[in-house]
Amino acid sequence: MKKAWILALPVMLVALALCTPARSRDFRSHYKISSANTLNESACARREVPPDSADAVKRGKTVYKAYCLSCHQFDGGGVENLNPPLIKTPFVLGNKERFIQIILKGFDKRVEIDGEQYSNNMPSLNFLTNQQIADVMTYVRNDFGNKATLVRPAEVQAVRAHLAQ
Ligand code: HEC
Repeated sequence: MKKAWILALPVMLVALALCTPARSRDFRSHYKISSANTLNESACARREVPPDSADAVKRGKTVYKAYCLSCHQFDGGGVENLNPPLIKTPFVLGNKERFIQIILKGFDKRVEIDGEQYSNNMPSLNFLTNQQIADVMTYVRNDFGNKATLVRPAEVQAVRAHLAQ
């Protein structure tokens, strides 16, 4: 029994080092481990943003510039009285399904954020692919001071299927 613990301890320490972003980079350069994605995602499942999110954020920024920036602006600050901000709002950081629905269906519910209302309407962007919607959400949820989990295309597809019923 004791032996099992002695064997398990180094494995746990290595897993911990790999799951800690800053330390994992040090660990890799120190031991000259390739920068290819050697992380086992399930080992890091409890991390808030999974290791593959950097690419999703990058792709999502491109989608944001093409389909959201004109209204919500470069810094996610929106336009006073017209388009709401995307900075730490419950819609951005809260229930992912609600956010997916906003993109698929558009939004004209006169949302109130910090006591302010916005008179513009958001159009439906349901022509975007599940991947584009997942990526743009992951981007918005991890820029502008936001920090939240990655969104997967399957989650978008589930809401799309539900709306089509
Ligand atoms: C034509 C302008 C326009 C575009 C383009 C647009 N939005 Fe919006 N968005 C709005 C407006 C206006 C509202 C609020 C509508 C209301 O109050 O009824 C809104 C609401 C939201 C909300 C909920 C309120 C909040 O601020 O948290 C989110 C989240 C959101 N938009 C994200 C996006 C994302 C992501 C994109 C791009 C994929 C996008 N929007 C594209 C105008 C736009």
